[in-house]
Amino acid sequence: NTLVLPFVLLFFPLVASTTTQESFIQCVKTRFSDYTKTFEIILQLLLLSAPLPLLIVTPFHESEIQAAILCTKKHGLQIRVRSGGHDYEGLSYRCKTPFILVDLVNLRSVDINLEEEVAWVQSGATLGELYYSIAMESKVHGFAAGICPSVGIGGHLSGGGFGTMLRKHGLAADNVIDAYLIDVSGRILNRELMGEDLFWAIRGGGGASFGIILSWKIKLVRVPPTVTVFTVSRSLEQGAIELVHRWQYIAHELSEDLFIRVIIQDVDDPNNGAARTVQAAFNSLFLGKLDCLMPLMNQSFPELGLKVDNCTEMTWIESVLYFAGYKKDDPLEVLLDRNTLYKSYFKAKSDFAQEPIPEVGLRGIWERFLEEEIVFMIMDPYGGKMNEIPESELPFPHRRGNLYNVQYLVKWVQNGVKASKKHLHWMRMLYNYMTPYVSASPRAAYLNYRDLDLGINGKGEESYSGASVWGVKYFKDNFKRLAIVKGRVDPENFLRSEQSIPPYPALK
Ligand code: FDA
Repeated sequence: NTLVLPFVLLFFPLVASTTTQESFIQCVKTRFSDYTKTFEIILQLLLLSAPLPLLIVTPFHESEIQAAILCTKKHGLQIRVRSGGHDYEGLSYRCKTPFILVDLVNLRSVDINLEEEVAWVQSGATLGELYYSIAMESKVHGFAAGICPSVGIGGHLSGGGFGTMLRKHGLAADNVIDAYLIDVSGRILNRELMGEDLFWAIRGGGGASFGIILSWKIKLVRVPPTVTVFTVSRSLEQGAIELVHRWQYIAHELSEDLFIRVIIQDVDDPNNGAARTVQAAFNSLFLGKLDCLMPLMNQSFPELGLKVDNCTEMTWIESVLYFAGYKKDDPLEVLLDRNTLYKSYFKAKSDFAQEPIPEVGLRGIWERFLEEEIVFMIMDPYGGKMNEIPESELPFPHRRGNLYNVQYLVKWVQNGVKASKKHLHWMRMLYNYMTPYVSASPRAAYLNYRDLDLGINGKGEESYSGASVWGVKYFKDNFKRLAIVKGRVDPENFLRSEQSIPPYPALK
């Protein structure tokens, strides 16, 4: 019996899904005369049932996405869209019910118009491909977005997106001026056709609730020919806690050209190879030369003791490599590698700090970090441009009043439920510990650091009030407007997932 049962369970979905696959392919074929040339479908062998997709569609042309949406609907299946595949909870490529995966890997062109200082970038491109393309055209232009080059444009821009230039230029989404999207009816809409409400929603509200975004028109930003970077690490004995404490009072008020983030992490103890210790790294980009940076630092953060030797002048694109963990002399082509540098299991959570954490609170973080193996707490300072943009301007509401964003990360290499449980437990314990020190009512979170612990939609019928539990954490008062837009553009809630925006009830 024990042998037969799993076999039956395995076999049944195989038969059922093969029929669905064939019928789906037939549906798609009828929509294309040149099907074999332009439509690439990779059949997945369903050796395991859920959560593998029935099909992965890798379109070369927008009409193929239209067909995928319409045929998915017709077959009562779900659809998932993946650009860079970096979703923290895998919502771009996992689904509990039978689904079709649209992978935009083949739609990744970048067209730069330097005269107008804009670019059109397709969703399947990565940040690295975008940064590289800009650098090939200009040494004095860049784009304000995230740090990891393998992150995809589609998820990043539709969830907000920030990196080393957010204090000067805001979010990636703040710099989007047009977009092409395919809606649930298969229509291709640009900003004018989709209307300002939908255009607002896809810049921070998560694209997957509203359609499949094909491409984005972005504003390039000017960068100086020379920028300066530094990373200064301090241990407990070197006053790390006092320095982080002080940093909280000044980082958000510094010149907009100066971004200093803090990464608290556990490292090997240099005094005892067998032991671990916790240090704080002050990791910075200054949009200017060293001779301007030093007086600024001496005046505003002398406690850090920054020295000329700690700093390196470089071009902006070299700073992109620096922050991504590459060496200054690595070829720029490393930015074209779509594989992420970070390969391990991980769990992340986010917070926003609105008051400085007292030293005693920071000490507690240090103590807890020593209980785990690979842990990080990344603190990204806000202020500057982020203070100038009203909370309702885009779905991303975390603007004035926030000193910095916090991301907690725990990583592990060992597979298995037992190992995962242990690390997840530790992460949730740390998150609980942080409660008195971070934003409350709501305890805010950043959509692009997706966290299903915050709440998920119910089975089948998603309710607006149920989803508000997690929705207001990501979007505050903007959640209601997102749900109203959803009710207008996808009243049947075809595009849904564990954390998709539900249609607002009154308009359903
Ligand atoms: P993925 O393809 O997984 O998509 C994420 C979500 O967007 C899914 O729900 C997906 O369905 C949807 N989506 C994707 N393409 C779409 C499209 N064309 N139309 C509609 N919906 C679409 N963030 C940050 O702000 N700053 C940073 O520096 C970093 N750094 C970073 C490093 C690493 C290693 C990781 C794993 C992640 C980050 N992030 C980040 C977070 C990152 O911004 C976030 O995970 C993005 O959603 C990833 O976008 P992808 O397209 O890669 O993901």
